[in-house]
Amino acid sequence: MNDPLVTAALGALAGRGVDAPFDLAIVLGSGLGAVSERLETVTRIPYAELPGMPATSVSGHRGALAWGRLAGRRVLVFEGRAHPYETGRADAMRPALALVAALGRPPVLLTNASGGIRDDLVPGTIAALSDHIAIGAANPLWGERDERRFVPMGDAYDPALRLRLAEAAAALGMELPEAVYMWFPGPSFETPAEIRAARALGADLVGMSTVPETILARFHGLRVGALSVVTNRAAGLGGAPSHAETKREAALAADRLAGLVGAFAARIGRGAGR
Ligand code: HPA
Repeated sequence: MNDPLVTAALGALAGRGVDAPFDLAIVLGSGLGAVSERLETVTRIPYAELPGMPATSVSGHRGALAWGRLAGRRVLVFEGRAHPYETGRADAMRPALALVAALGRPPVLLTNASGGIRDDLVPGTIAALSDHIAIGAANPLWGERDERRFVPMGDAYDPALRLRLAEAAAALGMELPEAVYMWFPGPSFETPAEIRAARALGADLVGMSTVPETILARFHGLRVGALSVVTNRAAGLGGAPSHAETKREAALAADRLAGLVGAFAARIGRGAGR
């Protein structure tokens, strides 16, 4: 893939002593910045200085690319993502995932905040995604000409990475339920009727991100794991979802999430993507 934006971003990174190839790439969702507080020997570049990187407009996102060591692994951290609802484009994160592919093809750990549908998925719960639903939604590969656009999605959330996540949680004595995530493009929250429909379709969680990144990552042959912090009960299920509540609840869970991410990083191999 010869994406000129990626070539330009690589050029900008080369001058900053980027520590590639990486062992893990992480995308941080709203209010989940605590993960990068644990990085050692961190270097950080604002997205604004990296061509094609997500110009995030959502509060709760730092808007920088950081790298450093976590549990001895070389880790790349996207501190904030662009959501399709910010740009009107489902491929808002396309250059970011292409950049990950160019920096050693490490596994990708996506994080997000979500609304809980399944009864056990109450605010403060951290869940690992086992699958997703994006029926009828936009696809980040619209317009792609390469035959590889027909991406198989059978094991979109990599079974081996899910096992590592489960082991990491067990080592910390944490519960880590698995859940199916349904993507609603937002930015308006769902209606109660939409949440009833989502439940009937088999969704356990709802949110406005992650799915496009998973598709893009799989397009590049990157393995994907995903963690979700439940910040509210979904619409009509007892809560009244709001962005303020999302940020508040995400911040409360961010330290636990950071611990889990560190324990996960310790369990993936060096050069795991190669
Ligand atoms: N719906 C969509 N996105 C979300 C929610 C929700 O209830 N909570 C956090 N992100």
